[in-house]
Amino acid sequence: MSTTQAAAAEGFRAVYGAAPEGLWAAPGRVNLIGEHTDYNDGFVLPLALPHTTVAAASARPDGVLRLHSGGADGGIVELRTDDLRPAPGSGWAAYPAGIVWALREAGLPVGGADVHYESTVPTGAGLSSSAALEVVTALALNDLYGLGLDRPRLARLAQRAENAFVGVPCGIMDQTAAACCTEGHALFLNTRDLTRRQVPFDLAAEGLQLLVVDTCVQHELGDGAYAQRRAGCEGGARALGVRALRDVPYAHLSEALARLDGEPGAEPASGTGPAVRDLVRHIVTENHRVEEVIARLDAGEIRAIGPLLTAGHASLRDDFAISCAELDLAVDSALAAGALGARMTGGGFGGSALVLAERSAAEHIGTAVTKAFAAAGHIAPRIFPAVPSAGARRLA
Ligand code: GLA
Repeated sequence: MSTTQAAAAEGFRAVYGAAPEGLWAAPGRVNLIGEHTDYNDGFVLPLALPHTTVAAASARPDGVLRLHSGGADGGIVELRTDDLRPAPGSGWAAYPAGIVWALREAGLPVGGADVHYESTVPTGAGLSSSAALEVVTALALNDLYGLGLDRPRLARLAQRAENAFVGVPCGIMDQTAAACCTEGHALFLNTRDLTRRQVPFDLAAEGLQLLVVDTCVQHELGDGAYAQRRAGCEGGARALGVRALRDVPYAHLSEALARLDGEPGAEPASGTGPAVRDLVRHIVTENHRVEEVIARLDAGEIRAIGPLLTAGHASLRDDFAISCAELDLAVDSALAAGALGARMTGGGFGGSALVLAERSAAEHIGTAVTKAFAAAGHIAPRIFPAVPSAGARRLA
């Protein structure tokens, strides 16, 4: 039994005075490539981290929902399932409460529960701690109430909870990664039709390592900027007469950009953030990069994805404008120290970068990044290997 699993079982007993009916886990994720493509019907390629959120839970017959977290300040959050209403921005408990709301709204027979959580997924690091919390809750309730839902359906309900209950306009990538990833693989997801493929990603066998550099910073700009980028992409699709930017073929990018130049009406009303043509260029080139990465992985050429990762970073920095000084420094210092490729991962404006390195060079690269952060006066980053791990599962 892992220490997190044991802590969750013990924590449950300490808080609720009985043993839990079961224990479930869901992981955090990093996205190898395909950033901000998931709300444009595009392609993504995330993998699950070994870091998990564990839920110890029991059903309750009385419609009361009690939530407690070993990592959060404050005591038990107690709610009535009948009273749940969308409540944008109301703390960590809104994520699991949103799951109960979304399941019930879908007409599923879910009642109350006692839940205690323990997590090793870093929060605010762009590693999807919220999706781990949502998906572990959905899986626990699925089992406790015998709902019989499959993983993709749980992921869609979790996204609905986050969009409609918590009020975050995220795509489907993080929840699908938490629900559907498998050990030793990256998950190729087509976010239009939700078809998936497990792509073998055995870094160790190739003598490689993927490092996560958690910059430990989160810039406030991130809040409204995500919605702004999303609205800009949707405006671009409208201006180009396509259902989503996914429908602009890479081979027709220049034509699409020329067309946008003739349509100033495509610019966002707020006038902030990048021009729509730059957003379009990122999405179209990023979908193409995902396909190129997949082709190289299918050909067994893992090292060859390095330059595509680095090109993805440049696109997020220059066209999508969601990088920041710390992320750029993580990427630049890792490349200067010999990394095969590096990019920011996740929503942007802080959080984490990914570095692909020869295993023999990984320690040296990590040290070089840490030194560069110190020299620039940034707080020390947290650096750890991303080992492709399992998705959500029942533990006991
Ligand atoms: C966040 C969102 C995802 C996705 C990424 C960017 O993690 O939750 O849906 O849009 O940003 O790729």
